[in-house]
Amino acid sequence: MKARNPEKPLTKNPHLLKWVAKMAELTTPAAIHWVDGSQEEYDTLCAQMVAAGTLTKLNDQLWPGCHYARSDAGDVARVEDRTFICSLSRDNAGPTNNWVDPFAMRKTLKGLFTGCMAGRTMYVLPFSMGPVGSPLSQIGVQLTDSPYVVVNMRIMARIGLPVFQEIDKNGKRVVPCMHSVGAPLAPGQADVPWPCNREKYIVHFPETREIWSYGSGYGGNALLGKKCFALRIASNMARDEGWMAEHMLILGVEDPQGDKTYVAAAFPSACGKTNFAMLIPPPALRDKGWKVWTVGDDIAWLKPDARGRLHAINPEAGFFGVAPGTSVKTNPNAMAALAKNTIFTNVALTPEGGVWWEGMTDTPPPELTDWQGKRWTPAIAKETGAKAAHPNARFTAPASQCPTIDPAWEAPEGVPISALIFGGRRAGTVPLVYQAFNWSAGVYVGATMGSEMTAAAAGTIGKVRRDPFAMLPFCGYHMGDYFRHWISMQRKLSETPSIFCVNWFRKDADGRFLWPGFRENMRILKWIVDRARGRVPARETPVGWQPRYEDIDWTGADFTPGQFAALEAIDRSAWRAEIIGHEELFIDLHAHLPKEMIYERELLICRL
Ligand code: OXD
Ligand code: MN
Repeated sequence: MKARNPEKPLTKNPHLLKWVAKMAELTTPAAIHWVDGSQEEYDTLCAQMVAAGTLTKLNDQLWPGCHYARSDAGDVARVEDRTFICSLSRDNAGPTNNWVDPFAMRKTLKGLFTGCMAGRTMYVLPFSMGPVGSPLSQIGVQLTDSPYVVVNMRIMARIGLPVFQEIDKNGKRVVPCMHSVGAPLAPGQADVPWPCNREKYIVHFPETREIWSYGSGYGGNALLGKKCFALRIASNMARDEGWMAEHMLILGVEDPQGDKTYVAAAFPSACGKTNFAMLIPPPALRDKGWKVWTVGDDIAWLKPDARGRLHAINPEAGFFGVAPGTSVKTNPNAMAALAKNTIFTNVALTPEGGVWWEGMTDTPPPELTDWQGKRWTPAIAKETGAKAAHPNARFTAPASQCPTIDPAWEAPEGVPISALIFGGRRAGTVPLVYQAFNWSAGVYVGATMGSEMTAAAAGTIGKVRRDPFAMLPFCGYHMGDYFRHWISMQRKLSETPSIFCVNWFRKDADGRFLWPGFRENMRILKWIVDRARGRVPARETPVGWQPRYEDIDWTGADFTPGQFAALEAIDRSAWRAEIIGHEELFIDLHAHLPKEMIYERELLICRL
């Protein structure tokens, strides 16, 4: 068969053709490659990157179809301080976003992007967030000079020919996404394995629904379908169109009767979202017939169906998960999902051509090459504290490979959502679980959620960072207006999902965790499902409805009523301080804060 000429356009859409030509004129790439999304194309790009030193092919016996990349040491994570929401008015971005005047930013970007792809290929990468053709899906086209981005996006989204066909067929609005690593090559100049630029800009124009990303090739900075589109731009679309773009996992709980209840849950980064999405119940509950199915681990798009019931899709097609801490003990489903056809970034390499990271096994291998390419041994680590894998090392794995992937995970109409969960990492104050009294009380819980910082930055450990709805870095407009949108969604729903708050991280006075977490969380999830289905009574307390000891299934567990009481305790003086913390956030947002938040706070104070 004759090889396809990748320079030949794969669309007839005049707007798209014109935009690509205009952007090529601006960025002056050496070639243009229209991405068809085929396996053959993926294999060719990977082989080219292996030859260029960007990727290493892993031992195919141990890690079939897997590749490894090591990033530049200055390009290892999302850059929140270089992320901008350039709405026409500063007021629309709100105090929690970095704002720059859009006209000034366009001028800056024009300078940065002029000639920025010289010597490189510009890939025209069409992608669908959500199953192609689903009424809940959205389409973007990313122009990028990074083949690493193309192969990662092939795992994280639906890309290529079917998306071009969708664009040609129904003329659906496309979100233009410009991306460059910002490292043009002069004629004859040798490339580096991970090109990037010290100067980084991750820019969103909410009104025109555009994304411009410069200088980084890593994760959410560069895979523009994820945080930039599916959260920051989509949150703007959702507000305007009456749906919700949320930083939430989606899972389905199957009960012994075979009925499934779907829940969506928001947790700030580093609270075990991927583990919760792929939870395996403890043996005693598994034997009774409880099972958890995975729909998504990071982002949910929620929309009322024609009857007013909230439905959700996972707009992504893969998992971009944090590798350190992932093991057959903590998350066997993730380990199975990443066992083949996966791209690893910034983990460590074993001499056999495999990968390893902190927490993967109890005993580290005797010798490794670390994420910076240096020799690593347990002795060196002990002496210098050097990590084999970067703490933000990632795996990019196809969701379809997860053993618990829900049969309906690609259903075009999404799955019906019966409960919403908010959680954070809190050593004190917040009980293991409670249910909010109603929708607006639940919105208050989401709006005021927070997590203790785990970063080792001096003086900040243990400080609660308010992270409303886990959307602080991802809401593409004013956070106060976002709360208002949440409040207003109730009027669009015929049945509102029940809203719950969980905290797996409560500690005793000696700093020991009171709750074992991981698979034991199933006992709490079961109570949540039972409550959402109206199967169990609950105790009314100042914060909401709390479980009685006897309403949790303790089969196979050794957990006393006293231990449970400590986890569920409401300490009134701690809550007093907590509410003052809520107030600090509300003061920042006051001009746009919906009055329901004030009323809910007052009611909470009265009950306490
Ligand atoms: C992520 C995050 O990478 O939330 O998903 O930081
Ligand atoms: Mn996330």
